[in-house]
Amino acid sequence: MRSTKGRQVWRPGNMLYPLPAVMVSAADLQGEANILTVAWTGTVCSDPAMLYISVRPERYSYHMLKETGEFVVNLTTEKLAYAADWCGVRSGRDVDKWKELNLTKGKAEKLDHAPVILESPVNIECRVTEVKELGTHHMFLAEVMAVQVDERYMKKSGKFELNSAGLLAYSHGEYRSLGDRIGRFGWSVKKRMPS
Ligand SMILES: Cc1cc2nc3c(=O)[nH]c(=O)nc-3n(C[C@H](O)[C@H](O)[C@H](O)COP(=O)(O)O)c2cc1C
Repeated sequence: MRSTKGRQVWRPGNMLYPLPAVMVSAADLQGEANILTVAWTGTVCSDPAMLYISVRPERYSYHMLKETGEFVVNLTTEKLAYAADWCGVRSGRDVDKWKELNLTKGKAEKLDHAPVILESPVNIECRVTEVKELGTHHMFLAEVMAVQVDERYMKKSGKFELNSAGLLAYSHGEYRSLGDRIGRFGWSVKKRMPS
């Protein structure tokens, strides 16, 4: 195949952006809880609801995930950006991230060990179904057992206004807020193609 003028070809690397930068909470069997930031995460199945997180074995949190087979994915917002970064550059081996960041542990609805972070607008409670040792990262494939949401974003109509929570994106080494709404699911077939 011809290389195209004006384009560079790079060796394989991770360039799938934007991603969420979530705060994952977990605990060990003695009840010590920790938080680590994870960007290598995603939804993998609608029914059963499933997602994954990929974690390096050298992370302090790793043994908690292995011990209990539980974790909570806590969505982050612009307001939580500082905490999300901090939890991603400091280790629970050395500091109590809950205390240092004034974050509040809440009880998970369906898990026995991992707490939720109450400052987060959405807590996704997960139970591990499989661990795939891929290479640098081990992928924890998990089933979603329950989702807790902050009622502040519930409208009287019953609609959950997640997009007014100021969700945070992580793109190519930077934290970014989401921009303006461009459309909604399916809008392209109801609208004329932009010229
Ligand atoms: C934005 C961001 C994304 C990160 N994504 C991951 C990830 O997907 N997997 C991982 O193992 N570590 C990731 N890290 C690094 C861990 O969060 C970091 O090593 C953290 O200090 C581990 O905490 P712990 O030792 O208390 O478990 C990320 C860090 C940041 C700042």
